[in-house]
Amino acid sequence: MRILVTGGAGYIGSHAVRFFLERGHQVWVYDNLCRGHHQAVPAECLIVGDLEEMARLDQAIIANRIEACVHFAGFAAVAESVREPAKYYRNNVVNTLHLLECLRHNGVKRFVFSSTAAVYGVPDRSPITEDAPLAPINPYGRSKLAVERILEDYTSAYQWGCAALRYFNAAGAHPDGTIGEDHNPETHLIPLVLQVALGLRREVEIFGTDYPTPDGTCIRDYVHVNDLAEAHLLVLEHLQPGQMLRYNLGIGRGYSVREVIETAKEVTGRTIAVKEAPRRPGDPPILVASADKIQKELGWRPRFDDLKKIIETAWNWQHARPRGFRS
Ligand SMILES: NC(=O)c1ccc[n+]([C@@H]2O[C@H](COP(=O)([O-])OP(=O)(O)OC[C@H]3O[C@@H](n4cnc5c(N)ncnc54)[C@H](O)[C@@H]3O)[C@@H](O)[C@H]2O)c1
Repeated sequence: MRILVTGGAGYIGSHAVRFFLERGHQVWVYDNLCRGHHQAVPAECLIVGDLEEMARLDQAIIANRIEACVHFAGFAAVAESVREPAKYYRNNVVNTLHLLECLRHNGVKRFVFSSTAAVYGVPDRSPITEDAPLAPINPYGRSKLAVERILEDYTSAYQWGCAALRYFNAAGAHPDGTIGEDHNPETHLIPLVLQVALGLRREVEIFGTDYPTPDGTCIRDYVHVNDLAEAHLLVLEHLQPGQMLRYNLGIGRGYSVREVIETAKEVTGRTIAVKEAPRRPGDPPILVASADKIQKELGWRPRFDDLKKIIETAWNWQHARPRGFRS
């Protein structure tokens, strides 16, 4: 397949690009590099451009005879979305609409979208199934849900085959240690914890120790980036015209913040200082996926099915490149 991967120079996108290429697909990455890294993708695949630039997007789609699009590009920091909602609606919704229109004008009808567990808000169940109420509690989650709604309409009006993949916490790095997570500023727990292990940060903050969970800290479902990559390909291969798929992607098991820190100590053999801090507004106590639907319908199985294996790959990357792609 000839696939356009927006945001392919970012964390999850670059792992997907690597995976698609290994499986023999032809891939073009469309990324403005505002939060991505040119080193994360082969130079010959990279088209530097913004989703806002419809002429450039059009050209990328036509010149490379694109057949499908996997859309990772966007902003993904919850706290930033609360401070700057306009920025999130513009990039995640308006710019996605630009992309959809360019694809539509050029007859591309297969589309896979990076959605998020944030569309569920504070869920009423655990594990969370796809039919749980959609009630995002921040602009980031609302921007992603808005795109899901747009895709439903494109699916029925234009006979597209679409999928919204709701990732829980993406984690880990390519096992060969050549690509991995490198956000600036970093907001994700595992890289923050490993940066403490490396001496790049003094301590890691635990936001809230009085949640109704066994050790009082929040519980999340960590899913490896390579497993996410594989899910995207499976979904792309199954898309049917006029059908919109929605799948949760997680390992179906939750780990608390303290468990992540303890596992990181075990993997790195280093001490990790912690600082207990108050809860952050809008952090649900427990977010664990039921990934039964994609397992049953498409046979997806996460290969990295426990936290230690996931952290080992993240450590392999972070230890080799303490300052990420700038190392
Ligand atoms: N990381 C997670 O745990 C997680 C969880 C759920 C959903 N997601 C979603 O997955 C996607 C990828 O997440 P990530 O962690 O890899 O983020 P990332 O920031 O590493 O990657 C996003 C990429 O999109 C590019 N980009 C942003 N706006 C663009 C624009 N207007 N034009 C062109 N390129 C643009 C950035 O340069 C970056 O390379 C995002 O849409 C995010 O919302 C991530």
